[in-house]
Amino acid sequence: MALPLHDQARVKLPKDFLEWQECVIKFRRRGADFIPVIIDPVSVDLKTWTGIEREVVWAPQRGSQAIFLRCDEIEVLLEGNRGGGKTDVALMDFYAGVNKGYGTEWRGVLIRQTHPMLRDVIEKSKKLFKRLCPAAFYNEIKYMWEFPTGERLYFSHFNESRDFDNFLGHSYAWICWEELTRWPNDEFYKQMFSVLRSTMPGMPRKIRATTNPYGVGHAWVQARFHLYNWPQEGVILGPLIKGHEDKATGIKEADRRAIHSDLHENKLLKFTDPEYLSRIKQSARNKSEEEAWVKGSWDITAGGMFDDLWGLLREQITKPFFIVPHSWVIFRALDWGSAKPYSVGYYAVSDGTDLTFPDGRVMATVRGDMFRVGEIYGWKGQPNEGLRETATQIAHRIIEYEVKRGWRMQDGKRGRVRRGPADTGIFDKVNNNCIADDFEQPQLVWGVKFGGIVWEYADKGPGSREQGWAAIRKRMQAVMRPENGYREFPGLFIMQEENVVNHWIRTVPGLPRDEKKIDDVDTDAEDHVADECRYALRYEGGWFKRTSGRVSGM
Ligand SMILES: Nc1ncnc2c1ncn2[C@@H]1O[C@H](COP(=O)(O)OP(=O)(O)OP(=O)(O)O)[C@@H](O)[C@H]1O
Ligand SMILES: [Mg+2]
Repeated sequence: MALPLHDQARVKLPKDFLEWQECVIKFRRRGADFIPVIIDPVSVDLKTWTGIEREVVWAPQRGSQAIFLRCDEIEVLLEGNRGGGKTDVALMDFYAGVNKGYGTEWRGVLIRQTHPMLRDVIEKSKKLFKRLCPAAFYNEIKYMWEFPTGERLYFSHFNESRDFDNFLGHSYAWICWEELTRWPNDEFYKQMFSVLRSTMPGMPRKIRATTNPYGVGHAWVQARFHLYNWPQEGVILGPLIKGHEDKATGIKEADRRAIHSDLHENKLLKFTDPEYLSRIKQSARNKSEEEAWVKGSWDITAGGMFDDLWGLLREQITKPFFIVPHSWVIFRALDWGSAKPYSVGYYAVSDGTDLTFPDGRVMATVRGDMFRVGEIYGWKGQPNEGLRETATQIAHRIIEYEVKRGWRMQDGKRGRVRRGPADTGIFDKVNNNCIADDFEQPQLVWGVKFGGIVWEYADKGPGSREQGWAAIRKRMQAVMRPENGYREFPGLFIMQEENVVNHWIRTVPGLPRDEKKIDDVDTDAEDHVADECRYALRYEGGWFKRTSGRVSGM
């Protein structure tokens, strides 16, 4: 049962907190400005024995803002629909540490992905901090506030790994991420834990974040703060998550929780801009975004195309190196690229026999299970930059790779890898020649003549992209073993060799959805392995005919 607001707040508030007394009771109009009014917590009107009204520069509104300022967990997320006052109170949370005697030790950083994205919050900070502390100075070159007592707040961007260099060796007592779901995964978020430190006893250390649901990082933020079936009517405090050891880093994490902000708490906006909600509705680009912006709902389809399943099933999907059983078929699939990377993937299809790993472990398989057992990824080592290789060069690489993997004899005569699908662009004829023809030319490798590489048409008909993504999701789901039961449907597994970059794992799980076409992947993303993978899963190759009965390509 949901606790009434008032009681929930009590759960977390220090004993000496006078219930809501420091919150805005109303806004008083003065010219174009609306001045917050609070009841003075210490002075009382001796005639009426009621509190005295006092105009202030800023005070939290009742509800999530007041609770957020008093939350003493190290890691707190303030999430909710649009306009509840999350950004405002985040800035004030930093300000709460100013002039408390912490001096230069109270260093904060507020992070977004790029500098232009910081413009709004910087403007907001100028309005607030200048009024609260006229002697505070904003350094436009360093993007930094400096207060007369030495406290500093920086505005920074963090969008790629090397941006972490800007933080290395620093220490911060307050780190705040604005719009957390805009980061596709928790990599940078966790990296910053290492610079949250201070030697000053008694000074709080805080990781704070604000966000709406929706966005590429929806799934990881939802999982991190357990925001399922959330929000719930009238509930502000999210579940307390006890910090446990992070499996990847071995670091013991701090306790954390989310706080839910709602537009209805923002009396000022309701008063000054009553049309706000309907404008928000209109500007949402799809139903999920509308649900997120208007209701603050986390139970929506958003973020990545596969990250929810990956988060759940990663350990089942990835498999260590193994020798592909003799009775299984291997075929290859291609997503062609030149300026952008190309991707050749190798898929081993189980005939239902068991799989034995080098350490002796045995795995039962379902007939039709596909294991992505190898890859050649044509990139320059930088995301989404291709090698500009010709079809002949790629065919050469394919032959070398297959020989090295033991799937092709060195005499150039026999090989066990079957032909598979490639995107149809390679069959487009220019001057009566196409890329597919070049692939088919015989190749001289190590002085031996090998037959060329033959490709077949991948399914690229209407709706094939959406069906392809659905097929990948379905096969990912199918790796899950029901309790006390056997797997029934063929799944997709990824062979991950130790110390080798696996481009499926690097690029597929985090693929963002297209914001306008929610069932499709954003085509600006590095989607070449994903494309190659969906061609493979939708391809009903000749290998099915060799086995008795037919396994659906799903
Ligand atoms: N306690 C407050 N006192 C005065 N104004 C406030 C207060 N809280 C919020 N506001 C004002 O309400 C408006 C919306 O607040 P804010 O931008 O912080 O919302 P938000 O939750 O961050 O929205 P979004 O989800 O769009 O990022 C702003 O103009 C802000 O200055
Ligand atoms: Mg905001």
